[in-house]
Amino acid sequence: MSKRGKFITIEGVEGSGKTTQATLLSDYLRKEGIDVVETREPGGTEIGERIREVLLSPAHAGLVSPAELFLFLAARAQQVSEIILPALGAGKWVVCDRFCDATMAYQGYGRGLDINIIRSVNELATGGLVPDITILLDLDVEIGIRRAVSAKREFANHASGDRMEKEGPEFHRSVRKGYFELASREPDRIRVIPVSGSVEEVHRTVVSLIKPFLVKRA
Ligand code: TMP
Repeated sequence: MSKRGKFITIEGVEGSGKTTQATLLSDYLRKEGIDVVETREPGGTEIGERIREVLLSPAHAGLVSPAELFLFLAARAQQVSEIILPALGAGKWVVCDRFCDATMAYQGYGRGLDINIIRSVNELATGGLVPDITILLDLDVEIGIRRAVSAKREFANHASGDRMEKEGPEFHRSVRKGYFELASREPDRIRVIPVSGSVEEVHRTVVSLIKPFLVKRA
């Protein structure tokens, strides 16, 4: 039987470069001979990608916070069962762009829903699966939102930002504060990287944090 793979998640405020870093890290791990599944939340499965469209469409401005929470969790439950657990069980490593910490930060600290309830429902959606390591990319929220919206404009996709990006800076500041709070509670798992240098510099820092897992595997 193959050894269980590692589960790595990448988190951060809007425009922090998670997706770029997830891809760079996955490519790096593949060069190290690791079988990697790269995925994202919400999404990753056919059902999850449809839920993503509902969640991010600016047309759904009226979505109430508990409904938003349950939709993120529905996408997560599907993804854990269909993609993440089978991959880890087969010895593959999984790099996931956002996971449970995003729900704590956005729906808990951002929307103000009860943190303990979110912790419980996250557990229900994941069966208690916790990442081996979480990389938290940190950036000033105003800079991040500007970056995220202008990146999307290039692809004419939600040209003025998706439903979450359209929230005001106050919301995103609460999310960032939430992420810090989570990192201070679990400093061994959640490792904060300030996004001040170039993409390559951030990537090198990410790799330095992942290296201990590679050494243990050898
Ligand atoms: P992103 O994948 O482009 O970061 O978009 C996902 C958006 O959804 C982003 O604004 C963060 C938000 N989100 C939540 O609010 N809660 C969650 O549980 C997850 C996974 C994402």
